[in-house]
Amino acid sequence: IPVEPFDLVIFGGTGDLARRKILPALYRRFRAGQMPAGSRVIGAARSARSTNDYRAFVREALVEFGSADEGGQVESAFLALVHFVQIDVTGAQGWAELAAQLQPDRVRAYYFSVRPRLFGALAERIQSHGLATPDTRIVVEKPFGNDLASAQLLNATLAAHFEENQIYRIDHYLGKETVQNLMAIRFGNMMFEPLWNSQYVDHIQITVAESVGVGGRGDYYDRAGAMRDMMQNHLMQLLCLIAMEPPAKFDPDAVRDEKLKVIRALGPVEPHHIVRGQYEGNGDLPGYRDEVGNARSFTESYIALKAHVSNWRWAGTPIYLRTGKRLVARSSVINVVFKDAPHSIFGEAAGRHANLLSIRLQPNEGITLKVTIKEPGPGGMRLVDVPLDMSFAEALGPDSQSATDAYERLIMDVIRGNQTLFMRGDEVEAAWAWTDPIISGWTAAGDVPKPYEIGSTGPGDAELLMKRDGRQWQGIN
Ligand code: BG6
Repeated sequence: IPVEPFDLVIFGGTGDLARRKILPALYRRFRAGQMPAGSRVIGAARSARSTNDYRAFVREALVEFGSADEGGQVESAFLALVHFVQIDVTGAQGWAELAAQLQPDRVRAYYFSVRPRLFGALAERIQSHGLATPDTRIVVEKPFGNDLASAQLLNATLAAHFEENQIYRIDHYLGKETVQNLMAIRFGNMMFEPLWNSQYVDHIQITVAESVGVGGRGDYYDRAGAMRDMMQNHLMQLLCLIAMEPPAKFDPDAVRDEKLKVIRALGPVEPHHIVRGQYEGNGDLPGYRDEVGNARSFTESYIALKAHVSNWRWAGTPIYLRTGKRLVARSSVINVVFKDAPHSIFGEAAGRHANLLSIRLQPNEGITLKVTIKEPGPGGMRLVDVPLDMSFAEALGPDSQSATDAYERLIMDVIRGNQTLFMRGDEVEAAWAWTDPIISGWTAAGDVPKPYEIGSTGPGDAELLMKRDGRQWQGIN
């Protein structure tokens, strides 16, 4: 369904995010017929260039990151909507030109793809130059602060100029098709929800494994680490969707209220329930310290921890979270491990069997339910676990594999004014309030991350974390 024509201004229009994600996403929505002609994409940046040069820059980005229509008519039609304005975000230059580019009676979205320390100046300038209408939205990216105090400051800065319902804080995991599917699976089916509590669920594992390293973002990453880069936001959001109560309806505040309750119910994490790791070089690939260029870095590129949601539903059911770079595979999976049957009528010899629901978020999206059956043959009542396996690609066709990337969906939601998949200010703050003492705890204790091999499942201590509880991680594959 096409949206109404809109104006989107990208501050940081020549930056990496614009090139890799925002511009290709807009183009794909245009190609799909969702972004109407009459819309405008205005790149804004500090350095001078003409609109023609900027169009060439955009074309290159499309070729590199997702255009199948190189040089074609659709591409030309899209490029015709693209404009450029040179703006100094902290100064006076360029605002009048921007005002001249903006169209009346349009939804306006300002994408803050600039350093967070510029957010305040940017928000203030947009207002003081009269460029904000009631239909104006601003979009901000992570990192949204690097602790509670900085997140509160950012929220206060933005709130001085915009209403909460105009602020769209992106966590791109929420834009992933399969992440939204978590809600459909939980709340669209009768069979899971009655079992979805500590009476039936032994524990939950959330794994977001990456095979890539830190890449060119060493500077940022070495200050952040896996806790701030992934756990505080993406894994926390997954945890919320898995653990939250059913909202009364699928509406932004109903959903976000329930997520917030989960974050607020998270108990403190015991220091011995945290394992931090750092990958070592292996001859072919550089280790973490070489990659970030900091030989004395104690930043973690891997973290595993055991969390507790202290509420009626989940008391006694731990949630184990882990994420890391340069692991054996790229794989995001949520495993819900059910308890053993309370009594085995088949006797000790039949062994212990527990149902397992695996929700694969990426790649090879799908669901597997492990069920116990009789091992065929005359050997008596021997039990064996088999998978009921469903791959979305097989069930729904190859096109079901998120043809729409997270950014496409999220940008269109900004234009439609739907905040369901965006983080509210209080959610972000609550997430930091949980994260801060964990980080200050290991900092004060002088914790040193454990080395792990590139291509492994992380440091051995993470296995111990489970083993001590008589449990084990499901494989990363
Ligand atoms: C980003 C992190 O938010 O998410 C990166 O900053 C990480 O470090 C990325 O690689 C992972 O996203 P995806 O969509 O590839 O799972």
